[in-house]
Amino acid sequence: MDTTINDAKSEIYDPSRKMLDVSRIREDFPILQRQVHGKRLVYLDSAATSQKPNCVINALSFFYRTINANIHRGVHTLSEESSSAYEALREKIANFIGGVDARGIVFTRNTTESLNMVALSWGKSNIKEGDEILLTEMEHHSNLVPWILLAKETGAVLKHIPVTDNGTLDMAAFYKLLNKKTKLVSVSIVSNVLGTINPVEEIIDAAHKNGSVTVLDGAQSVPHIVTDAKTLDCDFLAFSAHKMLGPTGIGVLYGKPEILEQMEPYLGGGGMIEQVELCNATWAEIPWKFEAGTPNYADVAAFSSAIDYLERIGMGVIREHEKEITEYAVEKLLEFDDLILYGPQDPEIQAGVFTFFHNKIHPHDLSTILDRDGIAIRAGHHCAQPLMMKYKIPATARASAYIYNDKEDIDELVESLNKAKRFF
Ligand code: ALA
Repeated sequence: MDTTINDAKSEIYDPSRKMLDVSRIREDFPILQRQVHGKRLVYLDSAATSQKPNCVINALSFFYRTINANIHRGVHTLSEESSSAYEALREKIANFIGGVDARGIVFTRNTTESLNMVALSWGKSNIKEGDEILLTEMEHHSNLVPWILLAKETGAVLKHIPVTDNGTLDMAAFYKLLNKKTKLVSVSIVSNVLGTINPVEEIIDAAHKNGSVTVLDGAQSVPHIVTDAKTLDCDFLAFSAHKMLGPTGIGVLYGKPEILEQMEPYLGGGGMIEQVELCNATWAEIPWKFEAGTPNYADVAAFSSAIDYLERIGMGVIREHEKEITEYAVEKLLEFDDLILYGPQDPEIQAGVFTFFHNKIHPHDLSTILDRDGIAIRAGHHCAQPLMMKYKIPATARASAYIYNDKEDIDELVESLNKAKRFF
């Protein structure tokens, strides 16, 4: 089984250039060998989902061909191997996010489900009428709607940290909004629209001093920057496998074990119980208490290969590479006088997400034209309608980078944008 990155880290990363050897990395991604409309695929939509290296694809197939059995439900060899693979990933993820306690790693379907679990389980027991939940204006719907539902049910009040003109959080407003009624602060580490890297360490510190529980949406950070839940000291962190080279259908909720222990399960069924009688039941220990039913154990096994791949490169190296791309992309996109570029435009506080709006070409048209050149970007509201309303636009175009992108991809994006302008 090919579970290796095609070469050693030292050979794919040149520290003097701060860039990865992207052409070698691309060899590991079969989809990047295909053409779209007769052109090389330039995949700039990794904020929506990342592509998968051979080692992940092979690991999934290997698992089904050689191990497949339901976990924690048998004492035969296959079930034991399957269970071990599943539990081993829990440990690996706990290490990957800073060496937290693996009992705090709960497998879900995606970031959305992880955040909903906090709202449905922790929220319903801890939030009451008049309590305040503090979010930001730049949140993805997955970090807005669960709290809207909870507020409707409990009578809690939702507050939002405003976004400044340069796409950062208004921290002065944050300190004014934080008060004794603030029971929970939930913030994305990296905005999926603006790419902004938020000062979550400062937010968590202030929130904890205030006695508030903290939730981090790490969907766009865990794949791209070192995300150390232990140092950050967040109470919860949510993220997804599919944005970090892993399979779809696997999410993670990290929660501090002492908080998870106090929470009620939000789904009931097999696997999450200690004892069931006809009219009563007791729960398994954490994290299993939150994993009702047969989990997606095969994809969990494949996710393990994705983490190995990222670790072989190193998250610090990945960040350096994306910083270089961000600096280059921002410089190139700012050369367009008919295009509004949103976000900080500063690689120090921006991940590789570039959102723009052309004053004559609708984002959907732009995306369609780019597609003819083999360039995949996302157009739409990016599940952040409140942010679109703030900017008074219906949608934007968004290009987003990862380890298999380089400056050449940005050049192709720019060339195609110029072509689109001539077309309109
Ligand atoms: N949350 C993903 C995105 O921003 C789907 O595109």
